[in-house]
Amino acid sequence: MDIESIVLASRNEHKIEELRATLAPLGIELKSTYDFPELEEVEEDADTLEGNALKKARYVHNQTGLPALSDDTGLEVDALNGRPGVFSARYAGENASYQDNVDKLLDELADIPMERRGAQFRTVAAFVTDGDSYTFEGVCRGVIISEERGSGGFGYDPVFLPAAYTETFAELEPTIKNKISHRGKAIQKFYDWIENKKQK
Ligand code: IMP
Repeated sequence: MDIESIVLASRNEHKIEELRATLAPLGIELKSTYDFPELEEVEEDADTLEGNALKKARYVHNQTGLPALSDDTGLEVDALNGRPGVFSARYAGENASYQDNVDKLLDELADIPMERRGAQFRTVAAFVTDGDSYTFEGVCRGVIISEERGSGGFGYDPVFLPAAYTETFAELEPTIKNKISHRGKAIQKFYDWIENKKQK
């Protein structure tokens, strides 16, 4: 497969820079939504992470003609039967802030003891190229602690304690979080796959 450039369906500069550095050694240039101002915001209204990731990547591929990559992430809490899941960004309402969402989560789990506060972040990355689409999943297990700790990261990071660590995602060094995180694992799977394809 001859891939020279990929468009990432994202305006998140942090995600763009990280992936750009990851793909550079493979000789793949990473473009982003910023390189195509005509692209519109895609409504993430599918009922699964896979559905949203594929929807975004298909739209960008169709508009640009280039291979496109996107990702969608959700926090799946065991005691809430997998909620907020695909609704993680708008758990506390349509324009909810990260803090609103964390507050709602801690409220909902207020009576749940530590041993039943298991949860996982799950990311699905979708890659769409001519006629083909592929998905790559990354999961990070952990627990939801009862009060916020740390000032790094974003979203639910201050209340997520990854398995086998004593620091929350908001306390861990970003390089460590990126290595063990749901998104890091999904992107690593994509990287391994595309590296293999490039060699053929
Ligand atoms: P997105 O698909 O990356 O936009 O993520 C959807 C929502 O999940 C975000 O708005 C955050 O609330 C949450 N989220 C995604 N990734 C993370 C993470 O690494 N840490 C904490 N929260 C996250």
